[in-house]
Amino acid sequence: MQNINYVLENSVAYVTLNRPSAMNALNFQLLCELEQVLEDIRIDSSIRAVVFRGNGEKAFSAGADLKERKTLTEAQVRRNVNKIGEVFILIDHLPQPTIAAINGIALGGGMELALACDFRVASESAILGLTETGLGIIPGAGGTQRLPRLIGESKALELILTAKRMTAQEALDYGVVTQITSADQLDNKVDTLLQSLLANAPIAIQQAKFSIKQGMNTDLHTGLAIERKAYEITLPTEDRIEALKAFAEKRKPIFKGK
Ligand code: COA
Repeated sequence: MQNINYVLENSVAYVTLNRPSAMNALNFQLLCELEQVLEDIRIDSSIRAVVFRGNGEKAFSAGADLKERKTLTEAQVRRNVNKIGEVFILIDHLPQPTIAAINGIALGGGMELALACDFRVASESAILGLTETGLGIIPGAGGTQRLPRLIGESKALELILTAKRMTAQEALDYGVVTQITSADQLDNKVDTLLQSLLANAPIAIQQAKFSIKQGMNTDLHTGLAIERKAYEITLPTEDRIEALKAFAEKRKPIFKGK
């Protein structure tokens, strides 16, 4: 793969967008490679968390590749927009918790990729925005749906209709990112978050995520039924028994994901 770096370290999948000379813009080839990596991650039960980041100092991702876009027919643009939407749905549906480590520019599809993740940690120098209306289009990879669900309708309308480019501090104030930190501390900040996730039982983490994400898109009654079903999955696990044993023995549990 030329456009994606993928490494697995200590049960964490690190997926790096790797087109730094183009601000990690999302061309069709990159999207196909990303799709392949996500398919692998989705079914790998040894992976307990996933981190997305951008290669280089400047960008997480500057979104759709506007140079490529200029060469495409309307039908090819439709193909690309469908692909990016599908790939971000794959991210959204990953069973493992996902973190976007936003090391710089996250515009258009770059911000939409981050919105498909569970957590967004940004460096203080990051710039974020759904800038599409300034380009004669609209966010087409989930932005008009995920942003209002995250920060509310009015703030999402404001950000999308004005195509605002936010500083990291503004993104924190709007509730778009969960944490900001200096650029040199970004990896540490992400690592701290990872450690707090990895300390807990993997099946419980995945079922809690499933319950929240499925439940958010339905009514309370249905959501509560989803929660009950998800709880059932945790009941027969060895990790649940181990947690009770560890509590009685006044020690930390050792979870195996079983
Ligand atoms: N698609 C393709 N190439 C892109 C790109 C994009 N979305 N964004 C940046 N690049 C390329 C530039 O064309 C330039 O390439 P070049 O050196 O061959 O000319 C290189 O990345 C560096 O960008 P440059 O504009 O020179 O850097 P900058 O620091 O002045 O500005 C941005 C960076 C990201 C703020 C600016 O390029 C920009 O606004 N890009 C468009 C982002 C956007 O609106 N994305 C939403 C798409 S829907």
